[in-house]
Amino acid sequence: MFIRSYHQNFSLDHYPELISTSSLALELIRSHQINHNHVILTDEQTGGRGRLGKDWVSPIGNLYFSLVLKPKKLVTEISELSFLTAVAMGLALVEFSLGDKKINHKWPNDILIDGKKVAGILLEKDADFVVLGVGVNINSHPKNTNYPACNLEEQGFKIVDKIDLLKKFLNNF
Ligand code: BTN
Repeated sequence: MFIRSYHQNFSLDHYPELISTSSLALELIRSHQINHNHVILTDEQTGGRGRLGKDWVSPIGNLYFSLVLKPKKLVTEISELSFLTAVAMGLALVEFSLGDKKINHKWPNDILIDGKKVAGILLEKDADFVVLGVGVNINSHPKNTNYPACNLEEQGFKIVDKIDLLKKFLNNF
């Protein structure tokens, strides 16, 4: 099943394997079993989803989570949450950098190192909730993408513990 822990204002459920953290979050929203500021984390996904209906290949070793929020924001401002998420994750990644690699953002939600995508964010809404699904390539990345991709390990970042990275992201968020 999962292990529950807490970090700052967030509750965190860690699963060994899921189809998709965002799909589970949406299911739990629809069945009224989830609250604001909840994170679903998994070690691997068998049906990870990217933007525009694409797959997000999700083997063990990378970071996959979904953050569930119930924002008190106008619907028009909600899309800014994905950029906020990207900036919070970019700042967390800087803490693992050895200094010689530039981390850039591509509006609205990609995080790039040396022009190559290292992380992606999928924003979905249901009722009053927003689900921010985040994938970060730590030690592998897909090879057959129509955009250049990379991972933190090959880019010479410090060894990244995924829970540590997630907590640093939550601190910035
Ligand atoms: C993109 O296409 O750039 C967005 C990728 C988002 C992937 C993450 S991994 C965790 C969460 N669960 C999913 O199924 N997708 C998002």
